[in-house]
Amino acid sequence: MNNKHIKTVVGVAGLAAAMMISPLFAAGHEAAVAGKAPSTNVAWTAEQVRFVAQGDKTRGAQLSESLFCASCHGNAGVAPSSNWPSLAGQRAEYVFKMLKDYKDGKRKGSHAAEIMTAEGQLVTDQDMADLAQFYASFPLPSLPEGVTFDTAMGEQITYLVRRGDGKRLLAPCQSCHVSNGEGQATDTPALAGQTPEYFIKTMQDYKTGARSNDVYSRMRLIAKVLTDEEIVQLAHYYAGMTAK
Ligand code: HEC
Ligand code: HEC
Repeated sequence: MNNKHIKTVVGVAGLAAAMMISPLFAAGHEAAVAGKAPSTNVAWTAEQVRFVAQGDKTRGAQLSESLFCASCHGNAGVAPSSNWPSLAGQRAEYVFKMLKDYKDGKRKGSHAAEIMTAEGQLVTDQDMADLAQFYASFPLPSLPEGVTFDTAMGEQITYLVRRGDGKRLLAPCQSCHVSNGEGQATDTPALAGQTPEYFIKTMQDYKTGARSNDVYSRMRLIAKVLTDEEIVQLAHYYAGMTAK
């Protein structure tokens, strides 16, 4: 009883303190404070899942050309530059959610995200579903051009991916992203074959909280406890995954 009471008092005091000093906090800290706007407007109801599943990939292919998505993400979803993400073989629900998040101003963090926020204004929900099915229709990219995969990646990184790290409360990456890196339902993205520079940048954006469109802070909490060196190693590990 007493304990409970103390916790409540501390909780309220903590909340009040957070509210008072919040303008002094960086955006990243703020995003972690409970009661903020939701991290996304996308809710995976059965209807929403069906809507994305019924996207028309042929129309998506036309849109990718006419809206110049292909100029940055490649004709078949394999990005020509390591700074830009590949979309080939990406999960349709994830692509749909990202486009929606950019359009709604939920995925921010960089100049690159601003480009995509502008792109998002050009597309309707139907376009997003069509584009998502178009990209999902390709196989995952193989090792990005110009990137060499260090097969002696080190047991430590492999261990982190497969087993996590209990000391840091780190769940294994593969428990969500799956052992071959192809992601899973509903919106856990594929990582296999992703361009490493983009991977590193987006992990850093989660780490600082600049990217905050992950529901329940799932990736922000993980990125925060990884070292910069581990992030680089993980990027190369996943880049080389389809090449093994
Ligand atoms: C000028 C280059 C450019 C154009 C044109 C462009 N993109 Fe992007 N796209 C990017 C960059 C850079 C990012 C990463 C942004 C970030 O860090 O948030 C990105 C991110 C994305 C993502 C999220 C990828 C992920 O793995 O999370 C999707 C989905 C996407 N773009 C789809 C599209 C679609 C569809 C179009 C056309 C309507 C398009 N893009 C046009 C450069 C571009
Ligand atoms: C609890 C489940 C979970 C675990 C564990 C997890 N992830 Fe994620 N990850 C997600 C989800 C869900 C997203 C998409 C979040 C969003 O909507 O922005 C994501 C997104 C990502 C992205 C962004 C992909 C893109 O295309 O932009 C990267 C990179 C990533 N995770 C790497 C990792 C690594 C490396 C680990 C292990 C250290 C890991 N994740 C562990 C669920 C997880």
